[in-house]
Amino acid sequence: MAEFMGNLKRTEYCGELNLEKAGQEMVVAGWAAKQRDLGNLIFIDLRDRTGILQLAFDDSTDREVFEKASSVRSEYVLMAKGVLRKREAVNKDIPTGEVELYVTELKILAESETPPFDIKDNIKTNEELRLRYRYLDLRRNELQSAILMRHRIVKLVRDYFDKNRFVEIETPILIKSTPEGARDYLVPSRVHPGKFYALPQSPQLYKQLSMLSGFDRYMQIAKCFRDEDLRADRQPEFTQIDVEMSFVDEQDVQDMNEGLMKLIFKEILGRDLQLPLRRMTYAEAMDRFGSDKPDTRFGLELKNLSDIVANTGFAVFKGALEAGGSVRAINVKGAASVLSRKEIDKLTETAKLYKAKGLAFTRATADAHSSSFEKFLTEEEIKAIHERTEFETGDVLLVVADADSEVVFAALGALRLQLAKRLDLIPADSYDLLWITEFPLFEYSAEDGRFYAKHHPFTSPNLEDVDKMISDPGACRARAYDLVLNGTELGGGSIRISNPELQKKMFAALGMEEADYTERFGFLLEAFKYGVPPHGGMAYGLDRLVMLLLNKDSIRDVMAFPKVQNASELMTSCPSEVEQKSLDELSIAISIKE
Ligand code: AMO
Ligand code: AMP
Repeated sequence: MAEFMGNLKRTEYCGELNLEKAGQEMVVAGWAAKQRDLGNLIFIDLRDRTGILQLAFDDSTDREVFEKASSVRSEYVLMAKGVLRKREAVNKDIPTGEVELYVTELKILAESETPPFDIKDNIKTNEELRLRYRYLDLRRNELQSAILMRHRIVKLVRDYFDKNRFVEIETPILIKSTPEGARDYLVPSRVHPGKFYALPQSPQLYKQLSMLSGFDRYMQIAKCFRDEDLRADRQPEFTQIDVEMSFVDEQDVQDMNEGLMKLIFKEILGRDLQLPLRRMTYAEAMDRFGSDKPDTRFGLELKNLSDIVANTGFAVFKGALEAGGSVRAINVKGAASVLSRKEIDKLTETAKLYKAKGLAFTRATADAHSSSFEKFLTEEEIKAIHERTEFETGDVLLVVADADSEVVFAALGALRLQLAKRLDLIPADSYDLLWITEFPLFEYSAEDGRFYAKHHPFTSPNLEDVDKMISDPGACRARAYDLVLNGTELGGGSIRISNPELQKKMFAALGMEEADYTERFGFLLEAFKYGVPPHGGMAYGLDRLVMLLLNKDSIRDVMAFPKVQNASELMTSCPSEVEQKSLDELSIAISIKE
């Protein structure tokens, strides 16, 4: 039976005790991580959020206390009073290993059934079971320390921006639905039957409007909601560190945020980040790494062969070039002995996942030179390719040709990452943080036959590209930038459009009629009539930041209560059906498509 705490009050956290406090009387509280009953000796490992402390009971312990200790099982909640003393056998594995609490009073505050898995680090238990019992999973040191670290990072962020005179403003969670990009989560209105709120995908328009209101520097630790397919670095609800500033250009926003990165790297990782961070244009990132979030910690850079094979007789290359595409290659240095034909076939499968139609190769070992495409080329072409890619005996050259250069970039970009892992080219414990600048303003969707905003429709075009917005949207660059860490997009932002006419032009370029954009964004265009300062900002994925800093593979490992792949939460089983009465109140009828 659970006991009352009586007049026992906790005086210490377990994990913080050491010889300095030996001899003192104290009270600790927590969960029994382990109980060892040796007959005349009992040891209990007591766990709280700071660590583990050994409780000791022996011959001289009061018999009633001793009996109680002997009844303790894993995960019982205990409070213990006693005297801290030096331990006879030191445990070097835990920080409190030199001391133990000699217990004089013990309270069992709650009993526990045997948990469905062991509460310890590096367990093999499948994630589904752990998520179903997330509150137990969160007792594990690994997760606790991630969540505590997350708290520290948020505190650093708030303090940093506060010091720089930012104001945290809470923006609404029930807002107007204006989807661009991901799908909205909708919330039905009871008072307005048939109408819906949306949950914010980001506080974008509210933070811009707060600049109009004169707050000058805004920040928020903001919950965002996006109904999109989940991946290891994506959740349907996630948190942004959201920032907006007035009277600034790109450099100002980047400088401010670099300062934050420097602080976080120092405080959390003990590393000195060199500022200013490297900047690379989108065009260069694509050309060299086949990605707008390049991992530049290793080579395997792409080389453009298009000019060399411009007049080739090889139909695959020629066809790609004639259709406006390109031919590009990666030289995998010294890999001929490691990459067998069979492995090259596997790489071809990867390339095909990214819509490449094939993967051409040349592989040269000391005894054999084999190539899938050189037989179709002239001596000069082959020589020029070898020179451009610095190809030598021992190397493997991989080539992709496609009518759409995006396919070439995507396929080679993915191969680059796969090869770096396979060949162990990424230096352990290294961080690579850089800005990608001058993003395209628009992105063409062949599927929908229209242009979309690459960032969002409020991003300003480069001033010299404004004239091309309607006539040549594909060639327009944006005043947008991303912050990339180890090949993951950590954050992104832009200088915003602050001119109502330019904003209308942007909507028009996105194929919206006046009636359409007035209906959706009329409030913004109206606001822009009343004195809008030049402004810009950015947002980071907080979950991603913590994940990368702590070297975790998934953002689920740094979120307290995450959702799984199909967007459900296993512990509470949501989403769930609701009562007919609730649906009736909302004037909602359910019709499920088979
Ligand atoms: P963007 O859409 O690029 O920009 O989002 C900013 C950052 O948020 C993180 N992020 C996510 N993290 C986890 N799960 C998701 N589903 C998810 N989606 C995005 C990423 C991303 O870099 N309002 C603009 C910012 C601005 O212009 O100021 C915005 O939301 O780390
Ligand atoms: P083929 O003429 O079909 O025998 O192709 C010769 C080589 O070109 C093979 O190794 C194919 O895998 C490769 N190949 C085919 N399509 C492409 C492509 N789009 N890009 C690069 N290589 C390709």
